[in-house]
Amino acid sequence: MVKKYFERYFLNTYNRYNVIFVKGNNQYLFDEKGKKYLDFFCGLAVTNLGHINHILLKALKRQASSLWHCSNLYYSYPQLKLAKELIKLTFPSKVFFSNSGAEANECAIKLVRKYGSLYDKYEIITFKNSFHGRTLATLSATGQEKFHKGFEPLVDGFKYAEFNNIFSVKKLINKKTIAIMIEPIQGEGGINVADVNFLKQLRDICDENGLILIFDEIQTGFGRTGEMFAFNYYGVKPDIITLAKGISNGLPLGATLVDIKYSKVFNYGDHGSTFGGNLISCAVACEVLKQIDKKLLNNVKIIGKYLLEKLNQLKSKYNFIKSVRGVGLMLGMELTFPAREVVELCLKKGLVLNVVQEKVIRFLPPLIIKKVDVDYAIDILDYVFKRYDRRN
Ligand SMILES: Cc1ncc(COP(=O)(O)O)c(C=O)c1O
Repeated sequence: MVKKYFERYFLNTYNRYNVIFVKGNNQYLFDEKGKKYLDFFCGLAVTNLGHINHILLKALKRQASSLWHCSNLYYSYPQLKLAKELIKLTFPSKVFFSNSGAEANECAIKLVRKYGSLYDKYEIITFKNSFHGRTLATLSATGQEKFHKGFEPLVDGFKYAEFNNIFSVKKLINKKTIAIMIEPIQGEGGINVADVNFLKQLRDICDENGLILIFDEIQTGFGRTGEMFAFNYYGVKPDIITLAKGISNGLPLGATLVDIKYSKVFNYGDHGSTFGGNLISCAVACEVLKQIDKKLLNNVKIIGKYLLEKLNQLKSKYNFIKSVRGVGLMLGMELTFPAREVVELCLKKGLVLNVVQEKVIRFLPPLIIKKVDVDYAIDILDYVFKRYDRRN
């Protein structure tokens, strides 16, 4: 019934799963009949600290009962507190707050273009299979043709190199190049992990050629890899880092952190946003940062390793599992056939998973899960896979 109304009232942009979630509690979601689901997707790497996290709820209520919004033409404490904390956690930089990942990247793209305009440079190298958002510029930055189709002409100035192939990057550098933009682990591209050496070489290339290195950490940020950010995991410092998703555990917020070296590029009026850095989102984000402590990051490392082991055990059991890959609690399992039906069957059994690049099951559970949650998820997957074992 609801499906029919969605079809009637909504533009046709999402291929939705047949469930209506009405409530959440930590790692669980509940549908309208009260059925409980273990959430191994987090609304796409967003509710990393669990649904209706009580400390976050308190912060939300506190801010919501004092002030929701006041425009970026005025000063405010929640923004200041969050900016200070983010800078402390990353590197000497300055911040721009927006509402989403695409906007955080849009800001980075505009900033490097503005900087490049001083030298008549504007090209940005991004990567095949990357994903940077759905605005026209971030869509153009995205190195996947399927997202471009029908939206041409794209924003000019993006060149796509091969991920993990330093020679293909070198080949694309010319006198117009101003920046390199990369997800340290490609999420929408199917969980493709960058080699440490590759990122180190990118850093070197940027230094040698005066290029700005942008890390899109919209999916990898805030503890996903077992470190606060993927750049900590790799030990490679970008010049700009873009953040969103897990930053406020479900409230809209994006952040672009720009190394102090490039922080004077924008002047008054060069960029802006009405809602950017919403006060409630910022107040909650401050509490999010406090909760991602050493203990939680350690949990991600331990449980991530455990989940990876368990997925690999399934791989040795079922020959239709092509590969298992990822870091921390950002894992992918590639099948030899489209995985949508598997994900639908898991959903019926009470496990929320996701599929990317058609054949890759993506695991993005909340960072708070325990081994029992992994065991529960693996039992469901194993149960579902048995049906395919007979078919294949
Ligand atoms: C790496 C990356 N960049 C950018 C985005 C776009 O973020 P948003 O959907 O908040 O605009 C996403 C979303 O999946 C992402 O994974």
